[in-house]
Amino acid sequence: MKKCVLVSGGAGFIGSHVTVELIEAGYDVIVADNMSNCDMTCFEGVKKITGREDIPFVKMDFCDAVATELLFTTHEIDAVIHFAGFKAVGESVNEPLKYYKNNLESFINVIESAKSHGCRNILFSSSATVYGEPDKLPVTEESPRKPATSPYGNTKQMCEDILRDSVRAYSAIRGIALRYFNPIGAHPSALIGELPRGVPNNLVPFITQTAIGKRECLYVFGDDYPTPDGSCQRDFIDVVDLAKAHVFAVSRMLDDKMKKEYEIFNIGTGKPFSVMELVNDFQKANSLKLNYRMAPRRPGDVTAIWADPTLANEELGWKAERDIMDTLTAAWAWEKHLASKE
Ligand code: UD1
Repeated sequence: MKKCVLVSGGAGFIGSHVTVELIEAGYDVIVADNMSNCDMTCFEGVKKITGREDIPFVKMDFCDAVATELLFTTHEIDAVIHFAGFKAVGESVNEPLKYYKNNLESFINVIESAKSHGCRNILFSSSATVYGEPDKLPVTEESPRKPATSPYGNTKQMCEDILRDSVRAYSAIRGIALRYFNPIGAHPSALIGELPRGVPNNLVPFITQTAIGKRECLYVFGDDYPTPDGSCQRDFIDVVDLAKAHVFAVSRMLDDKMKKEYEIFNIGTGKPFSVMELVNDFQKANSLKLNYRMAPRRPGDVTAIWADPTLANEELGWKAERDIMDTLTAAWAWEKHLASKE
């Protein structure tokens, strides 16, 4: 029988890409989302890409414990991937309670219902933000977590701890946390991608919106960092590659291949890339000129971070494969697709 995976927050950027990969790998998927930060664009795209009109979709809020219970009562769920949560770093500084309440409560409800309904396998979408400004690069899963610089980052650390402690205490469940580096790009079909509300905080949506003329100018935050070209360095991971890592992680759980009851994996390429390199490659990949200007550093940014993905490569059998040029072409194709619908 096909295994069923619940994807909370499955209508969003990463959730929609993961849903596609799970379906293509032969899983049944239930998508649940409260639509607080997205519309149906990506879910509709998922149906088109997979050719599946019948993907179950539940509009619900995981902060609602009764609704969460009902979902687990009415469906046979073998594994859950938890994406539902707020993710804007700046907003979290101004509205910490909104972040703590939403991100922690929803995850606690998911764990409680999974546990009481015999759903053993819980995958949490964590972030490289837990490493803060690293002392040593690249970062391995053993690198120390640093005090979070935002309530958003703190919720990622706290959710990791909630999962670790729950797994330790309740033998009914086990968990994996995937620490994403900087997910970028879009599905090659250009039918799903990132849909920021208002002014984008993240680099690539800002680049594509500038290229299409929605924003006048891209500001590159900082040219005086102690890096080869003075701009920050990140590990930009293609969202389709990232999505595939979830399929490996889910099958590791469902096939009883885990070596510990709680495992953590870095999901990155292992290659540092500077903001300016990305800007230049975007122009090259898409044969266009971007209006950009150097600007002061953005408060809270770390100088450089990239992954040591060895553990994920060896244990999950997963590796980042997409070429950065293809990733940047896909990001641009998605922006053009959005513009064509306006
Ligand atoms: C942030 C979050 C991270 C989250 C990720 C994806 C922190 C500290 N960071 O990462 O947790 O997983 O977003 O949502 O919590 N930049 C510009 N101009 C812009 C926008 C960005 O120069 O208009 C630069 C930034 O200064 C940074 C790099 O691009 O050096 C990447 O920025 P961004 O896409 O926002 O990701 P992070 O801050 O690395």
